[in-house]
Parts: sequence; structure tokens; C-alpha cells
Amino acid sequence: MGHNVEVIKVAPHLGAEIRGVDLSRALSDEEFAAVHDAVMENEVVVFHDQKINAEQQIAFGKRFGELSVHPFSPNQEDTPELIIFDNNEDNPPFGTDRWHSDETFRAEPPLGTMLSAKVIPAYGGNTIFASMTAAYDALSETMQNFLDDLEAIHDMVLFRKLFGGGEDGLATMRKYEEQYPNPVHPVVRIHPVTGKKALFVNPQFTIRIKNMREDESRTLLDFLFRQAAIPEIQYRHQWKADSFVFWDNRSTQHYAPHDYFPQRRYLERITIKGDRPFGPAGPTYFLQDNPETSAAGSADEFGGHRASIRPIDREKDI
Ligand code: SIN
Repeated sequence: MGHNVEVIKVAPHLGAEIRGVDLSRALSDEEFAAVHDAVMENEVVVFHDQKINAEQQIAFGKRFGELSVHPFSPNQEDTPELIIFDNNEDNPPFGTDRWHSDETFRAEPPLGTMLSAKVIPAYGGNTIFASMTAAYDALSETMQNFLDDLEAIHDMVLFRKLFGGGEDGLATMRKYEEQYPNPVHPVVRIHPVTGKKALFVNPQFTIRIKNMREDESRTLLDFLFRQAAIPEIQYRHQWKADSFVFWDNRSTQHYAPHDYFPQRRYLERITIKGDRPFGPAGPTYFLQDNPETSAAGSADEFGGHRASIRPIDREKDI
């Protein structure tokens, strides 16, 4: 059986529009395979005129794998996988106007994220995507070789603000720290399907390059964070009501300008569970589970945030 799936590139390094698919019904295996391949090849795919409800979005997402539940977003009781971004005058957008891959504070960050647009502001409210494989490819071979061996510590930085400074807030935060201990991810991630290398540090969640001095780490991270902002490796998505976007979270970063506020912008989001990142130097691990670091000394702060409830030895561990 054939299919009518058409894939039309919309930017040089990432982004394609997919036509000939109705996401409100179950895709045939052939259609799904074509969509899946388009995501792997183009990193971000866009569908227009998709009037779908949450149930249909969830069903489509599950074709790619198990869905994840965000630990810090308010969840729908009956569909905890669904995040509602209903931003307006009374509910300003939070934290998405910074380059990031989703949830890299997790040991296994999501494979990908799907957004379905319901209400779009008259102007503004685009989402900008950057190909982090293109960002890696654009670096000199000398820089690539240097980065290939490095690892970075990630943290739930953004969400720490949600807890407040009081006793109860701190106690809750400690619980989350136990649940989400700092993962150490490769600075260069190898995509598990395409085998391509991507820069895998982001200003939202990456706090330190391991085994570097603080000033060295800061300088290098600042340089790496700037790569996502290079216009040539980007695709800027201008939303329409009923458009639907799926991005590969392993090879892209995104930035959602809050320039539409206080207009209303309403999108529904789900994420698909991902696997443990690995780089040229091997798989990732938790900072405090690393046998080399388990004899750590004094607890300390870095990046302006407490890194972990477990003691960290700055000299040895990071
Ligand atoms: C996100 O960062 O997951 C949301 C992006 C957007 O609101 O466009």
C-alpha cells in the first residue's frame, strides 16, 4: 500500500513541512515510517491544518514511544502527559525564551516534543529552532576533537525558582533533587538513529563543563551557547491555528520569544521519553553515582545554584 506523504524542506539545515497526513486518525505503517524518516532527516517537522484533540495528539505521540510526564508543569489530572501552554495577560509565559533542549536535567531527556497550536496571537509568538548537528559541523576540526571528549553537568536550574526560599520550598526542592540528581551528559551527543554528532549543552540546564576550572567552563559554555543563535542554522516557525510541530530534542534547541505577551497564545504539548545520551566518550551517568566522585568532600554551589544534595568536591568532580 502506498501513501501520499510529501516532505518539503523549509530551511537549509533543519525543518520540513509534511503534507498528505491527517493526524486526527491513526497513520498506516507506511505513513508513519515516512513521517518518522522525515523527523530523523529534518530534525523539525511541521504539519498545517491539523484539527486534533489531546487524545489524538497523545495517540500520534505514542507511535514514537512512551510519553513522559513533566515533573514541574501543572498536569491535567486525566492526561498527565499533556502540558497546556495557555499564556495570556494573567498567565505570562515562563522560561521558554532561552535556548534549550527540553528537560536535559533528566538522565534520559525526551526524544522529542510535539506542540499543537490552538490560539495564536495576531503577531509574535514564533518558535525558533536551531540545528545542533549543523552547529557542530560548522566548528573547526580542532574544536570538534577537543569537544568530543568533554562532559557537562546539567541541572533543573530554571525550575528551582518555583520553590521559593522558605523551609517548605527548600524541603520540596531537596526531594526533587533526590529524584532528579545532576546528570552528566556528553558535550557532543551522538544521535542514536542517524549517528550524527550534535552539540548537547544549553543555557537553560547546563551548568558546568566537568573537569574544568569555573572560569574555563564559563568561557567555553558561553561560546557553545552562542552557536544556537547563529541565524544560518535556524528555522523560525510562524504558528497558525491548527499547525502542529514535532522536533527531535536530541539534535535541536529551540527558543520561544515572549514578544506576543500579553496577547493570548494557547498550545498543547507532549513529550516522548528518550534514551540515555551517549557521546564519543561513552554513556552518561549521575554526578554523585560516578565511582570516581563518590568520595566527594564539601558541598558547594556553582552556577549560582546548589548543584546536588550530595557532597561535591569541586577540585575532583567538576
Ligand atoms: C517549549 O519550550 O517547549 C515551548 C516552545 C513554545 O512555546 O513555542
